[in-house]
Amino acid sequence: MSTKDIIKEAELYVKNELKKDHTGHDWWHIDRVRNMAMRIAEEEQANLFICEMASLLHDIADEKLNASESEGIQKVSHWLIEHHVDEKTKKHIMMIITQMSFKGGNRPPMTSIEGKVVQDADRLDAMGAIGIARALTFGGAKSRVLYDPSIQPRYELNERNYRSNDQTTLNHFYEKLFKLKDRMNTRLGKKMAIKRHERLERFVHEFLEEWEGLS
Ligand code: ADP
Ligand code: NI
Repeated sequence: MSTKDIIKEAELYVKNELKKDHTGHDWWHIDRVRNMAMRIAEEEQANLFICEMASLLHDIADEKLNASESEGIQKVSHWLIEHHVDEKTKKHIMMIITQMSFKGGNRPPMTSIEGKVVQDADRLDAMGAIGIARALTFGGAKSRVLYDPSIQPRYELNERNYRSNDQTTLNHFYEKLFKLKDRMNTRLGKKMAIKRHERLERFVHEFLEEWEGLS
């Protein structure tokens, strides 16, 4: 199978798998991450096939779609073997996906340039206007409270409160989204994150101003 055919097959596989999820892991998120990763990969001279495949498959192993995270990882690994992706490439793709699916604060840093590229593309999609829309969609899907002025913004994120339901959707901006700008890996990722970060800040500022009736 040519690399082009494998990518086409992966697209079909991912579209079908993600039909089961309605909490923000939709196909268009994957498609945006793939397109952004391709732009960053060209500038970084990273391996395009690895970046494209890891982007397409990065959310498939998510625990929300599988009985457990390790089962999800097994599933992706089998898919790559079935599609005759060579061992070295498969290992690299799996390493990126596994590192990306770590939740909470104990995420190890990405070691390869391809991993850095895909991680930046995924992070950019959680920022800016689209990131705001995704956070509000996620909060709605989880029946979370939008905002509660009696709760102080909380910046720390740990395994426990990542999963807890007692946080407001607006707090997600403090515990995760505002931190992403300083965690970007690549030149283009950093550049794009500046504008998207400003959009996040402006949104929260205006939201709170309206809440207080100040403007
Ligand atoms: P991804 O790796 O694709 O960003 P996540 O599961 O971490 O996947 O998040 C999916 C989307 O939902 C992201 O846009 C993220 O910001 C948003 N999200 C995750 N957790 C929360 C939360 N507690 N409140 C609001 N939005 C959230
Ligand atoms: Ni993602």
